[in-house]
Amino acid sequence: MDKIPNLPMDFRDILRTVRMKAKYALFVGFVVVLVIIEKENKIISKVSDKLNLKQIPQNIFEANSTENGVYLENGSLMSLNELDSAFSQFRNKLVNVTLQYGGKQPFFEDLPKGPRRHVLLMATTRTGSSFVGEFFNQQDNIFYLFEPLWHIERTVSFESVGANAVGSAIVYRDVLQQLFLCDLHILESFISPPPENHLTRFMFRRGSSRSLCEDPVCTPFVKKAFERYHCKSRRCGPLNMTLAMEACLNKDHVAVKAVRIRQLEYLRTLVEDPRLDMRIIQLVRDPRAVLASRMVAFSGKYESWKKWALEGAAPIPEEEVQKLKGNCESIRMSAELGLKQPEWLRGRYMLMRYEDIARSPLQKAKEMYRFAGISVTPQVEQWIIKNTQASQDNNGIYSTQKNSSEQFEKWRFSIPFKLAQVVQDVCKPAMKLFGYKLANDLETLTNRSISLLEERVNFWVT
Ligand SMILES: *[C@@H]1O[C@H](CO)[C@@H](O)[C@H](O)[C@H]1NC(C)=O
Ligand SMILES: *[C@@H]1O[C@H](CO)[C@@H](O)[C@H](O)[C@H]1NC(C)=O
Ligand SMILES: *[C@@H]1O[C@H](CO)[C@@H](O)[C@H](O)[C@H]1NC(C)=O
Ligand SMILES: *[C@@H]1O[C@H](CO)[C@@H](O)[C@H](O)[C@H]1NC(C)=O
Ligand SMILES: *[C@@H]1O[C@H](CO)[C@@H](O)[C@H](O)[C@H]1NC(C)=O
Ligand SMILES: *[C@@H]1O[C@H](CO)[C@@H](O)[C@H](O)[C@H]1NC(C)=O
Repeated sequence: MDKIPNLPMDFRDILRTVRMKAKYALFVGFVVVLVIIEKENKIISKVSDKLNLKQIPQNIFEANSTENGVYLENGSLMSLNELDSAFSQFRNKLVNVTLQYGGKQPFFEDLPKGPRRHVLLMATTRTGSSFVGEFFNQQDNIFYLFEPLWHIERTVSFESVGANAVGSAIVYRDVLQQLFLCDLHILESFISPPPENHLTRFMFRRGSSRSLCEDPVCTPFVKKAFERYHCKSRRCGPLNMTLAMEACLNKDHVAVKAVRIRQLEYLRTLVEDPRLDMRIIQLVRDPRAVLASRMVAFSGKYESWKKWALEGAAPIPEEEVQKLKGNCESIRMSAELGLKQPEWLRGRYMLMRYEDIARSPLQKAKEMYRFAGISVTPQVEQWIIKNTQASQDNNGIYSTQKNSSEQFEKWRFSIPFKLAQVVQDVCKPAMKLFGYKLANDLETLTNRSISLLEERVNFWVT
């Protein structure tokens, strides 16, 4: 296990160039790569001809920030897609070369033939994804990772718009793919400070993944040393990535929660990877509630919003409003794609509203598990009951309705109406799709007997 197969090493070299933080390193890297393999592969050389650096229009680096950065001017999207497919072909080529020289395709043969599932919980911040992630974290036979892509965001400097958004989407996707294959070593290039001998004390929120804190991954605690993220329930030695990788391979399923995957379309590579059996659960939440929650969690970032809403100070900077719009739009476009059920996604995409989970956590957990094709253990049920204060009535029916509805609607009383209006203005299409009703006045917003949630039973499961 210590010997890292050739393919991921080469792949990591590419990623290492990305670490240079140079704005266009990714693209320069790709072009260099394409030139190297040109000799070997005529198909790719054809593509790379089209991708001559000079031919990539200058303006692909300045995408329109109001959209999510994919829709670029004048066909440059096509160039990027070609770049992407050339990159995939390059990797396939590497696999072929590796096999040719007697190498072994990483983990391919190691995977059990049974129905091993790969569940991605795709969300954005403040949508309750940590809570929902626990539904999978609590189950013994699932290897669960909490926000592993945090390390990539930390290391690679990507702006969230334009060509960089495309570049980051590709890197996130490719790292995610390796993680689902249990190749945790891929993360090591991004962990800072870098692990030594595959040992690290800096795995982001290690304590949020039970799989990283149980035997045998929890090695004996040695000596007191600074550890940024540690296991909650017990003291463990530094995380041995090789051990974690072995633990992953020994589990029946893999689940990852990620708030950094913005576009569903980029996950097609994973969905079509024959080594994976992907199930994607997109978690959404009322954007007004998300804003209210972010204003508490990242208070400093929203000073101008508060001042404008409460004191009539200068308007919120336009780019911040546009950013909010961009977020809503990228979530909506992913959901629209998923709900359209293109052939490649059929049976692999599920849309979940946080509000529905808050109102009936156990039922929704069961739906998600059914969708994933994994059976729920009593352990998970117990955890949900305990942590949502669900009470069991005489008929044996669990209900959290009353309690949770109070919780999930709290934002209605904390958000200034003017800000709710801003959100409604820019996020209207997304709100319409997800069934979040607009409030036209303060009275509606704060009247508990008026629901702002349209009921959408079974519409969500595809
Ligand atoms: C960017 O988006 C804005 C608002 O949607 C639009 O007015 C503008 O024309 C767009 N710019 C380009 C270059 O597409
Ligand atoms: C994009 O296309 C339009 C119309 O074809 C043209 O006027 C414009 O100059 C092009 N922009 C760039 C950056 O190539
Ligand atoms: C890799 O090998 C397979 C089977 O030998 C072949 O079908 C495929 O075209 C090859 N891929 C590349 C990129 O050369
Ligand atoms: C990490 O775990 C692997 C696999 O069990 C083991 O071979 C290796 O010695 C461990 N590394 C260290 C530094 O303990
Ligand atoms: C939730 O319900 C329980 C039992 O019905 C009650 O004791 C508790 O106060 C409720 N919590 C809230 C926040 O309403
Ligand atoms: C809240 O809405 C209900 C139903 O529309 C209405 O009957 C009630 O008067 C409203 N309450 C207040 C305080 O406005």
